[in-house]
Amino acid sequence: MSNPEFFARPSHAPPAPERLSDFARAVLEGLCAPAKRLPCKFFYDARGSVLFDEICALPEYYPTRTEIALFRDHAPEMARTMGREIALIEFGAGALTKVELLLDALERPRAYVPIDISGDYLRAMAAKLEKARPGLNVLPLVADFTKPLALPQCLSEARRVGFFPGSTIGNMDGAEALAFLRKAAAVLKGGGMLIGVDLVKDPRVLHAAYNDAAGVTAAFNKNLLVRANRELDAGFDLDAFAHYAFYNPHEQRIEMHLMSLKDQHVRVLGRGFYFVQGETVHTENSYKYTVEGFRRLARQAGFAPRQVWSDAQGLFSLHWLEC
Ligand SMILES: C[S@@+](CC[C@H](N)C(=O)[O-])C[C@H]1O[C@@H](n2cnc3c(N)ncnc32)[C@H](O)[C@@H]1O
Repeated sequence: MSNPEFFARPSHAPPAPERLSDFARAVLEGLCAPAKRLPCKFFYDARGSVLFDEICALPEYYPTRTEIALFRDHAPEMARTMGREIALIEFGAGALTKVELLLDALERPRAYVPIDISGDYLRAMAAKLEKARPGLNVLPLVADFTKPLALPQCLSEARRVGFFPGSTIGNMDGAEALAFLRKAAAVLKGGGMLIGVDLVKDPRVLHAAYNDAAGVTAAFNKNLLVRANRELDAGFDLDAFAHYAFYNPHEQRIEMHLMSLKDQHVRVLGRGFYFVQGETVHTENSYKYTVEGFRRLARQAGFAPRQVWSDAQGLFSLHWLEC
């Protein structure tokens, strides 16, 4: 709960709203909300991207290794389904690890456009890929994929195919996922999309995956506060907040929060925010789907769901959607 009196007296004049970065605006808005929240896309600065890669290698984090095994087992069939000479557009590309497995199998892709909000990291990963595959036309795009996208002109001729692994779609709630899929279907019209979707499963497996013993997910979550301290002149004491993640079965989602360990005031951009002990800032959701539930959502967004690849334990799924 915010303390209005404290909030009303900034220590010095905050920047005018039009001069605020997206991150600053989101933090000021999110911390003023009755239930405090911060959008998860801001996890991903250069350090956040590296921490996410570390999460992917954790023994408890089953999604990455399960999805990679699906590519290892089925990449040739997936590549045939996606077609030859396509322009491959990856949303939230991260370390570009999974696409390598597809690129080995794809026939003469015309271009590869990795899109990510984490600019420095994307540029570094794209440069590495270009060096490893000199014949590939790599066109990195630093952008927020929830906003209108300015795709390179040269893609207008090619058949466009989307690639969206890692169950990043799970970070969106139902309305956001539907809006994103609708936009993707319009951008990819005449092609399709290969998308990774994490599945509903034993809550104990989910709980372990987001509460790893090494504390990497906790560091990833707290990176939002580190970033706010650096970019927004904030005064978060990292030891005064705890990583808190649990499965919410009614919403079919993992929720990640940062919990205040005491009553405290924190300054951000010259404004004061009050946290009571036990109060949380909701930082991420990770929705889990059934195969049929996701196909229904894709249909609603205008895609025709086709093949599904899944592991024997039913942990993770990859869907080919036509549009
Ligand atoms: C869960 S990670 C998945 C990374 C990679 N695709 C994988 O499968 O391992 C999400 C990725 O999407 C990026 N991302 C998150 N929100 C984004 C947004 N709104 N626009 C662009 N990129 C975003 C992050 O920087 C990060 O690289």
